[in-house]
Amino acid sequence: MNQKTSQTAKTALRGDLLDFSAAPAWGAEDDAAVRFRPNHWLLIDEQGRIAGIQAEEPGPEYQRIDHAGKLILPGFIDTHVHCPQLDVIASYGSELLDWLNRYTFPAERRYADPAVAHEGAERFVDALLAHGTTSAVVFPTVHKGSAEALFESARSRGMRMIAGKVLMDRHAPDGLRDDVAQAERDCVDLIQRFHGRDRLAYAVTVRFAPTSTPEQLAMAGALCKADPTLYMQTHVAENRAEVDWVAQLFPDARSYLDVYAREGLLHPRAVLAHGIWLDEADRRVLARTGAQIAHCPSSNLFLGSGLFDWTAAREAGFAVSSASDVGGGTSLSMQRTLADGYKVQALGGRRLSAWAALHSATRGAAKALGLGEEIGSFETGRLADVCVWDWAHGPVAEQRDTVARELHERVFAWLLLSDERNLAQAFVAGRSRFRRG
Ligand code: GUN
Ligand code: ZN
Repeated sequence: MNQKTSQTAKTALRGDLLDFSAAPAWGAEDDAAVRFRPNHWLLIDEQGRIAGIQAEEPGPEYQRIDHAGKLILPGFIDTHVHCPQLDVIASYGSELLDWLNRYTFPAERRYADPAVAHEGAERFVDALLAHGTTSAVVFPTVHKGSAEALFESARSRGMRMIAGKVLMDRHAPDGLRDDVAQAERDCVDLIQRFHGRDRLAYAVTVRFAPTSTPEQLAMAGALCKADPTLYMQTHVAENRAEVDWVAQLFPDARSYLDVYAREGLLHPRAVLAHGIWLDEADRRVLARTGAQIAHCPSSNLFLGSGLFDWTAAREAGFAVSSASDVGGGTSLSMQRTLADGYKVQALGGRRLSAWAALHSATRGAAKALGLGEEIGSFETGRLADVCVWDWAHGPVAEQRDTVARELHERVFAWLLLSDERNLAQAFVAGRSRFRRG
C-alpha cells in the first residue's frame, strides 16, 4: 500500500490501550510499568503525534475511529530482518553456513537488478506493515541499489527505518562482493542522501566477520568513528561452525566479538544479531560499549543455532531487543517471534513474561536504538506508530480469551495464539497504512 492516505485534522482511536512506562521486572506478572487503559481514546494531532489519552469521547474536531473491544499497541520494532530473504523464508534442511550458500546468496544476487530490488523493497515494507511492524533495522543486499530501494519504500510510507548497503568483499559468490574503495564511496553517498532524512537512518552494515576483509572492517570502523550518529549492524556468534571459522580467519582476536571491538564497531548504536555463543568477557564488552543484541529466537530454533542466554545478558547489563531475522526466522510476525522467545527461555528453565516480551519489541527496542523519544510508547509527543489487534481470532483463541481471569493471563494467551491475522489496522505517524480487508 503505497498511496498517501489523507490526514484529517486530528484523529482519535478507541480501544484497549497497552504500553509501558518503564522496563517491566523480569518474570513479574503484575508490574507497575504496565499501562493498560481499556476502552480509552488515543488522541493524535495534525502532525501525527500522540496528543494524549482519555476515557471521554473527544469532540467533533477529531476524526473518531472506534476500535472498541480491540487491543491497541505501539507498532512493533523489528531490530533485525533481511529484506531480500522473503524469497527464502522456510527453506528446508540446513544450518547457517550451508543455508547461506544454498538459499540466501543466490536469492540476494537477484537484487543486482534494480527492478528486482525495487519490487522486493515495496513488497517487504508492505509485509512489515501487514504484520504490525512499523519500524525496522534492515539488511538489504550488497548492491547499492537495494539500499536505495529500501530507503525509498520506507520514506514513501513515512516509516522509521535503519538500513545500509551490506559490506562483503570476500567469501561470497560472484555478483555478491564489493571492494573496499567502492564500498566506501557507496556508503558515503548513501549516508549523505538518506541518513537523518525523514525517518531514515544509515547503518554501517557488516554482514558478518567472515565476509569482510580486515581492511573492509577497518573502513567500516572509520565510518562509525567519523560520525557517531550512524548505526552499525552485523551478526555475531550465531552458530558454532561460524564461530570456529571466525577463530581461524582472525587468529589474533580474543573472540568473535573482539573482531568487531578492535575496529571500533561496538558503540551505543551497534545492533548485533544473535550473540548465542558469547562468553562473560564478551558480555562485559557489550555492556561497556553500549552495543546491543537483537535476539532472534525463531531463526535460532529454525537454523538449529542455539539458545540465547537472556539472563546472562541482563546480569551483564546490555540491552536486548527481539527480532524476526527473516528469512532465517520463519515469520515476520513479532507475536510469533516473541512466542518462540518464550519457548527458548523455557528450555533454559526461565520464564519470559508477556510484559518483558512485548517491551523488547516496543519501548525497550526503541530505547536501545536511542529512539525512545520517537517510538515505542504512547507518551505524549511520540509519533503515532500504532497497531490495532483483534484480541482473538478463531474459536480456540476466542474461548481462551473469554476464560482469562487477569490481564497478564489474557495478554500472554494473545501473544502465544495471535499473529498477523489479528491485525485490524496499522498507523504510521498517525496515517493509516494498513487496514484489513
Ligand atoms: N550471518 C551472516 N549472514 C546471515 C544471514 O543472512 N542470516 C543469518 N541468520 N545469519 C547470518
Ligand atoms: Zn540476520
